[in-house]
Amino acid sequence: MFKEITLMSRLEAEEELAYLAHRMAELDIAYHQQDSPLVSDAEYDKLKRRNELLEEAFPDLIRPDSPSRKVGAAAADGFGQVTHSVPMLSLGNIFTEEDVYDFMDKIHRFLGIPENEEIEMVAEPKIDGLSFSAVYRQGKFVQAATRGDGAIGEDITLNIKTIRELPLELKGDDLFSSSVPDFIDIRGEVYMARKDFFDLNEKQQRDNKKVFANPRNAAAGSLRQLNPQITAGRNLSLFAYAVGRVNGATWTTHSGFLEQLKKWGFPVNPEIRICHNTQDMIAFFRDMTQKRSSLPYDIDGVVYKVNRLDLQERLGFIARSPRWAIAHKFPAEQAMTRLNKIRIQVGRTGALTPVADLEPINVGGVMVAHATLHNADEIARKDIREGDTVIIQRAGDVIPQIVRVVLEKRPLDSVPFTFPSICPVCGSHALREGDDAVTYCMGGLICPAQNKERLKHFVSKEGLDIEGLGQKNVELFYELGWIKTPVDIFKLEQNHGLEILNLEGWGQKSAVNLFDAIRSVQKGVPLDRFIYALGIREVGETTAKLLANRFQTFEEFYSMTKSVDAISVLTQIEGIGAVMATEIIDFFAEERNRTLLDELLQNLTVLPDEGEVKQQTPLTGKTVVFTGTLQKMTRSEAKARATGAGAKVSSSVSSKTDFVVAGESAGSKLQNAQELGIRILSEEDFLSLLDVAKKTGYDNGKIERG
Ligand code: IVH
Repeated sequence: MFKEITLMSRLEAEEELAYLAHRMAELDIAYHQQDSPLVSDAEYDKLKRRNELLEEAFPDLIRPDSPSRKVGAAAADGFGQVTHSVPMLSLGNIFTEEDVYDFMDKIHRFLGIPENEEIEMVAEPKIDGLSFSAVYRQGKFVQAATRGDGAIGEDITLNIKTIRELPLELKGDDLFSSSVPDFIDIRGEVYMARKDFFDLNEKQQRDNKKVFANPRNAAAGSLRQLNPQITAGRNLSLFAYAVGRVNGATWTTHSGFLEQLKKWGFPVNPEIRICHNTQDMIAFFRDMTQKRSSLPYDIDGVVYKVNRLDLQERLGFIARSPRWAIAHKFPAEQAMTRLNKIRIQVGRTGALTPVADLEPINVGGVMVAHATLHNADEIARKDIREGDTVIIQRAGDVIPQIVRVVLEKRPLDSVPFTFPSICPVCGSHALREGDDAVTYCMGGLICPAQNKERLKHFVSKEGLDIEGLGQKNVELFYELGWIKTPVDIFKLEQNHGLEILNLEGWGQKSAVNLFDAIRSVQKGVPLDRFIYALGIREVGETTAKLLANRFQTFEEFYSMTKSVDAISVLTQIEGIGAVMATEIIDFFAEERNRTLLDELLQNLTVLPDEGEVKQQTPLTGKTVVFTGTLQKMTRSEAKARATGAGAKVSSSVSSKTDFVVAGESAGSKLQNAQELGIRILSEEDFLSLLDVAKKTGYDNGKIERG
């Protein structure tokens, strides 16, 4: 029934993989969520095997939603996965009125628009709920998802359908519904009104069920229910405020889009206001601060967005957030409590981090028992001591902080805190070097705390994400001496399979699931996750994604780190500075890391970055030099758009230069380029190349897929 794989073209393989992904997702939902399998187990296994064989033959066609990568995940939490039409990004945060002026200054400068010329902005309340994406085809609602990791979310189609405010069909403007696009992905926030939250908690309490800490948690807990009937019994609401992919947009401004949303029948926040200048924006923020407690729902700040979509497009994105929008957050909530103990944690990099153990207290709806103290300087500067009464604050999801000590309440026998000079875990020296504020344990590989944390990082959700090998089990296997280095994970079944089966609390099923999960990870780890999992200092999720995006394969990335111009190649990537670049290079220069890597690569397959095929553009991988004055955009915009389309920007012309973009009164660089026979582009040529780039997948810097 299946075609012989060796005879298949790429296109055929791609089509079949897409079919399998959809079919198996459908079978998974029927099996796991609806408890009504559509096919026999044998039939299911056959499809699974076929998918594996196809992926082996065409590894670069492995899909982000591939069934082979979903092993366990769909079963564990029961939600299908949905790849977003366009990534769901987040917003940068600002906290002060001065920051609002800075934000507008940057926008003016980036666009080269004089300070006194108006850039119209839209100001909106920032709803404290959880974001959703809802896809409509030919005006009919078809699917909804949570934000997930930004690239892939959880399928909440059935749950969101129970929210009465969600239109199941877009109302057309006229009889013929000509204003409804073929495809549109509408985004917004699902929230629980404060009254509904109190009612729900009352009921939960009566039924002896879990009460929720705040409306946001209640909304999340209600929407992410495997049984949509439970969602239906909760009162949820929503506001729409953004769009992903759309075919056939008829609007040119954000406010125009909001008007269209209303016509289609979506709830749009009534407080939204157009601002003509920074003063208007600040006035809106102050008004919302005043109104906050009387609104029927929680907001945690306001969002400012550039109104004109052509300007939004020119501004583009930095890493995960747009340059054309920002969140202005309300000041954090504070509370007073007692600091019982200062505890020192040793992280995977050996950093000694002091943590305050607090008398648990409710801060703005969330119980807080710990606060970060950052480092020795911070403790000394604020003179924080064990036994002190302290003011703590919590802003959004960040770890609570200590604002100050209430000196009047300090016990008479209190003594200043002395920061340890030896590692509390391994007893090695703990040192501060140069003007670094952080104290590091010098124990390196002999420090159990560092080793354990490195392993936890390696298998974490954002890293290899091995189902069944959570932080607790890593800790256990480490203590038992079964996993000492990451490679040991892949030998676990062989070396300690039987012992694991016999561990207390473990049965046949959980052990087999764990080994299956390990094997499935071995078959293919996405490049960005692998880079993140290595635990290179300074390299978090976003940087790992940037690197994966730029180098596409691990081999390419690895060999770059060994080249002489590694530093300049790395710092050319927007979002990567000299400190990060040095950490990356140092990591791979370390012999022990290289040995470990070689062993790891023998035990698992690192998948190439998925962007490659889709996002080849005429500028991908090309080195571009700008010279002279550009008319239609500023130099920084030009650079950002070139990098966004996959190019490298260099400041000097050499034989490695692919294009020189020459503006007015270009000088020696232009001459140089002519002598070297390098292709010279006018500003117009460059703009049309960007246009082509956009059509082939890149969109003005929207290279981030997660
Ligand atoms: S716009 C690309 N508008 O805030 C920008 N977001 O901190 C898309 N949020 O993930 C977001 N109210 O969940 C936008 N009026 C509003 C919002 C809003 C709440 C949430 C949203 C986003 C998060 C970023």
